[in-house]
Amino acid sequence: MMTLSEILYKVPITSVKGNPDVEISGLHTDSRNITPGSLFIAVAGTNTDGHHFINSAIANKAAAVVCEKLPDTFDDKVVYVSVKDSAEALGIMAGNFYQHPSGGLKLIGVTGTNGKTTIATILYKLFTRIGYPCGLISTVENKIIDKTFPSTHTTPDVLQLNALLKEMKTEGCTHVFMEVSSHAIHQGRISGLKFEGGIFSNITHDHLDYHKSFDEYIRVKKSFFDNLPSTAFALSNADEKRGAVMLQNTKANKKFYALKTLADYKGRVLENNLSGLVMNIDDIEVHFRLIGEFNAYNLLAVYGAAMLLGEDRHLVLTTLSQIHGAEGRFDQMISENEGVIGIVDYAHTPDALENVLNTIIKLRKGIENIITVVGCGGDRDKTKRPVMAEVAAKLSDKLILTSDNPRSEDPALIIKDMEAGLNTAGKRKTISISDRKEAIKTAVSLSKNGDIILIAGKGHEKYQEIKGVKHEFDDKKVLKEIFELMNK
Ligand SMILES: Nc1ncnc2c1ncn2[C@@H]1O[C@H](COP(=O)(O)OP(=O)(O)OP(=O)(O)O)[C@@H](O)[C@H]1O
Ligand SMILES: [Mg+2]
Repeated sequence: MMTLSEILYKVPITSVKGNPDVEISGLHTDSRNITPGSLFIAVAGTNTDGHHFINSAIANKAAAVVCEKLPDTFDDKVVYVSVKDSAEALGIMAGNFYQHPSGGLKLIGVTGTNGKTTIATILYKLFTRIGYPCGLISTVENKIIDKTFPSTHTTPDVLQLNALLKEMKTEGCTHVFMEVSSHAIHQGRISGLKFEGGIFSNITHDHLDYHKSFDEYIRVKKSFFDNLPSTAFALSNADEKRGAVMLQNTKANKKFYALKTLADYKGRVLENNLSGLVMNIDDIEVHFRLIGEFNAYNLLAVYGAAMLLGEDRHLVLTTLSQIHGAEGRFDQMISENEGVIGIVDYAHTPDALENVLNTIIKLRKGIENIITVVGCGGDRDKTKRPVMAEVAAKLSDKLILTSDNPRSEDPALIIKDMEAGLNTAGKRKTISISDRKEAIKTAVSLSKNGDIILIAGKGHEKYQEIKGVKHEFDDKKVLKEIFELMNK
């Protein structure tokens, strides 16, 4: 237990009503989770404003309330504290309450549009194999050493995050690798955390529905690097148009990785095919199991970070050469009889889709057809829908547009939005089938010996969300079943 005044240490306060020496049992931003004796923090979120729930928090016996605007009436048994910015205050209070867990760990954050999960996961696997007890916080899963916990959000909120980091520290973790989404940065979900390093992958057209403009999106990502301390490293992609801008105002130790330009961590791709990558990194030739040029970037980012964390170069490269990627990221399987190659990939942005398809085009041996099955999510950025279809049609021989996670939207209308991106040639090679299983079945029935089927969009996700209901759906499992059913 801690007192409210201890929890408020370093929080800029505007007023206090009541005795702040009261003991606090827990912190909550959701009034439904309030237990007697805990503290309710009213934060204005994207969908709701916590200030509307102050009374219900008190009804659930909150001992204290921290808010930006004090209510009109007060309860004598409750302590009220007003602050200028409750999201900022929440970050500081979470750090105090959980005793600054990020301080005792090497916490590395990965940001960018694509590659966050891959980079964080490979780092986790690498450092685990080297022998460190590690933590992983990603969109696919959270891990504390060898225990796995499912994850719901790209980045948990600041309270969950501090609680998770505290647990990681208690379990003995030395390193924690964490995906840092732009939403998380913007909503202050990482405020108060002490990072040992930050990694930037790339930036493209994604999440624009949330961030309104591309400049705003860049500014938000950049603020992560702006806030790194001078003791941290900031590692960026020098081949990326905005790679240098990201590090422009950081106090951290600036380093770059690249395939095409000069950089601190420079790599060259010597071979790139369906069995993996061969790269030259700092004059050492290494074979990797990961596939595609984008993974060459991810591997370089991991290598650079490992060097900055003081690891041995040869050990890092030999260990990295044995590691597979993250689940649902260029995940391939081959049908038994006809050798049709199925690839399941999480590409759900035009850029990621283009990367995956270009990778496949480069890797195919001859005239094998590329059959793409792809959909777009509902209740998310609509502007990318026609672009996704355009990219897919341009780079595939046959295209099947289908549903992804329509959420509350009508799947047929999402597909219509996608179809708007097709020109005449694109329309000729495209079929639209809203049922994802039927779409995959059609792709398989269209395939011949050695053809390549790409199923994009869901990757590791094991469900489809239609009209608010989650249905079990696993692209890899469905594809495998259909391969067997059709004796492919
Ligand atoms: N460095 C990269 N550059 C471009 N595309 C990439 C890169 N790394 C991965 N991709 C593509 O993007 C997809 C998503 O990769 P990953 O899950 O690692 O990204 P993410 O940043 O975690 O995405 P999200 O924001 O959805 O969590 C991959 O399956 C792959 O197709
Ligand atoms: Mg991710």
